[in-house]
Amino acid sequence: MDLLEAMQTLNACRHYRKEDVSEALVAKLLNHARWAASGSNNQPVSFVVVRDATKRRAIHDLYQPIWDTVMQKYASGDIKSGFDARFLANVDHFAKHLAEVPVMIVVCARWKEMTALDAGLGRTVLTPGSSIYPAVQNLMLAARNEGLGTVLTTLLVLAEKEMQKLLGIPEDIATAAMVTLGWPEKPFPKKLKRRPLADIAFQDSYGQPLPGATDYA
Ligand SMILES: Cc1cc2nc3c(=O)[nH]c(=O)nc-3n(C[C@H](O)[C@H](O)[C@H](O)COP(=O)(O)O)c2cc1C
Repeated sequence: MDLLEAMQTLNACRHYRKEDVSEALVAKLLNHARWAASGSNNQPVSFVVVRDATKRRAIHDLYQPIWDTVMQKYASGDIKSGFDARFLANVDHFAKHLAEVPVMIVVCARWKEMTALDAGLGRTVLTPGSSIYPAVQNLMLAARNEGLGTVLTTLLVLAEKEMQKLLGIPEDIATAAMVTLGWPEKPFPKKLKRRPLADIAFQDSYGQPLPGATDYA
C-alpha cells in the first residue's frame, strides 16, 4: 500500500479477530522494523514474539491491574483524562481481551548502552527512547501494509520485573513497549484525529506560523 496512506490510517487497533498471524508474516514485519536508525547505529532494540497462550494470559494478568488503576485515577479525577466514554470503553475492551490477541511483541532495549543526553536538564528525559521507537513505528507501518492491526502499549513497563521473569529477559535488557498484533475486527479509519499542522509547526520562531500549514487542517 501507499506509505503515506499507511501513515495516515495507522490507528490503535483495539478489537481483533481470533485468526492467527503466521510465523512467516511476523518474521517479515520484524525484518522491516530492524532497518530503523538508532544513535551511533548502536541498535539497542530486540523483540520477543509471544504466541504461547499461557504467557499471553500471564501478560493480560499483569496489564489488567495497571489499566484498572489508571481507570480509577481517571474516575476519581486524580489524573485528568479528557477522554470520551467511547475511547475509554475501547481501551477497557482491549485490556479485558488482551489474552485473546494472537501475537504480542515485547520490545526490548539494551538500556546500559543507551545514553540519556538530557538527563541533567531537570525535565522528563526524552532522548533514550529515540533509539527504540523508530523501529516500533517501522514495525507498525509494516503491519498496516499487510492489513494487520497494532497497538503500541507502554503501561506494562510498570511490570518490567515480572515481564523479565516471564519471558527470560536478562536484567540488563529493559522492556520499552509491547505491540499487539492481529487481524482487525473493524475497518481502518479513513483519517486519524490529529492536531492541525498549524498548531504544531512553526517557522524561524516557536509560535510563528509556518507558511502553508493552514492548508492541512
Ligand atoms: C507512547 C505510546 C504509549 C501508548 N500506550 C498505550 C497503552 O499502554 N495502552 C493502550 O491501550 N494504548 C496505548 N497507546 C495508544 C494510544 O492511546 C493511541 O495511539 C492514541 O490514543 C491515538 O489513537 P489512534 O491512533 O487510534 O487515533 C500508546 C501510544 C503511544 C504512542
